[in-house]
Amino acid sequence: MKKYVAPPFRIKMVEPIRLIPKEDRIKALEKAGYNPFQLRSEDVYIDLLTDSGTGSMSQYQWAALMIGDESYAGSKSFYNFEKVVKDITGYEYVIPAHQGRGAEQVVLPQLVDGKEGMHFISNMHFDTTRAHVEIAGARAIDCVIEECFDTETYHPFKGNFDLIKLEELIKDKTAEKIAGIIMTITNNSAGGQPVSLENLRGVKKIADAYGITLVIDGARYAENAFFIKEREEGYQDKTIKEIAKEQFDLADIFLMSAKKDGLSNIGGIIAIKKDEELFTKCRTYIVPMEGFPTYGGLAGRDLEALAVGLEEALDVDYMTHRIDQIRYLGDRLREGGVPIQYPVGGHAVFVDCKKIAPHIPFGQFPAQAVCNAVYIEAGVRPVEIGSFLLGRDPDTGEQLESPMELMRLTIPRRTYTYAHLDVVADACIEVYNNREKLVGFDFDFEPPVLRHFTAKLKPVK
Ligand SMILES: Cc1ncc(COP(=O)(O)O)c(C=O)c1O
Repeated sequence: MKKYVAPPFRIKMVEPIRLIPKEDRIKALEKAGYNPFQLRSEDVYIDLLTDSGTGSMSQYQWAALMIGDESYAGSKSFYNFEKVVKDITGYEYVIPAHQGRGAEQVVLPQLVDGKEGMHFISNMHFDTTRAHVEIAGARAIDCVIEECFDTETYHPFKGNFDLIKLEELIKDKTAEKIAGIIMTITNNSAGGQPVSLENLRGVKKIADAYGITLVIDGARYAENAFFIKEREEGYQDKTIKEIAKEQFDLADIFLMSAKKDGLSNIGGIIAIKKDEELFTKCRTYIVPMEGFPTYGGLAGRDLEALAVGLEEALDVDYMTHRIDQIRYLGDRLREGGVPIQYPVGGHAVFVDCKKIAPHIPFGQFPAQAVCNAVYIEAGVRPVEIGSFLLGRDPDTGEQLESPMELMRLTIPRRTYTYAHLDVVADACIEVYNNREKLVGFDFDFEPPVLRHFTAKLKPVK
């Protein structure tokens, strides 16, 4: 018998979806250059490309849209949004951005401050974060614990920083050359894996010792807090909000793609604990990049929806169901023999494609091959998190080898039922059972930055 944590909501509006015939899926994928990002959503049955902006809003959020104040400057909706962000983070300064990368493009160059030879060190940089580090003229170094790369062995906090390596890196590069330490919670690229408060405290201690700014890249900070509540000793009786606050207390800056734990379709957040000078620089710089600092690329109604969504994401019933859905899909795949990053993280199940297609070299993108096969099988759209996404060395142009070749099955919030997840699991198991037929891919077209979004591929003959 399946054990479900029944959703703490019922559905009152539906969006029809349909499965197009297999021969049409084959044609659609070919037309998309074997890149699921290039598929039309109408050709997708169950869309697990991302959890970013794809969730369902609550009735309270839809109601909030109606009271959006669309004033260009000083909108009432900004002050509602600011109040909620200040309450959750305890930070002094808040600026909205249109999404996570909007926040990154404003803040990261201020931290680099035009200096040569600067670095950011992160447990793992998300791809847009890495891109903005590089655009700002710096270099991105990842420093996650080794256990993260062992997909089979249980570790409660696979997103953790390797503290010994972090200190070695700082000494090696020298503290003056470190523009910031970025703690990504949860650690998206490693499987939505959480970070413990103990680890965050360790990073803070090192950052303080060397006088380095600590940034939380917290698109999924509430999911992270939930894992702490479940797994870290002493936190079982605390609320998600209390734990989230402890996370924020340990950092200086909070950047957020609010399209995730903001439970909204668009939005980003810059929050600064107390550095007024940095805030003034960001406020100035955001105007030409995102817009006036009280709207930051968002409509007043988006700010209202976010103000409500940010609170809803801290609700324990909501979060228990959210994480249960990910675990349900993970368990179904494991039962079917499909290798996954274990334990599952907060927003997706990550399938270990190095194990599924060891016959495909990293330069022919084994995880992309699995993603494409899953689409053909059942119209399910996953996304590759591996060498295709990682790209090339910015200095040498050589294809980098990702330590993991993953297919991410990303679950949108409050959107699909367990029955949809059964279709996904059956499709993945079918592809796994026919894994020897998978072939790799070569480029037909390769853009220079963030290539995975728009590249075109062709199957290797
Ligand atoms: C950890 C993390 N940081 C930053 C971003 C970028 O945010 P956005 O897609 O809203 O620009 C994402 C998006 O997925 C993310 O997961």
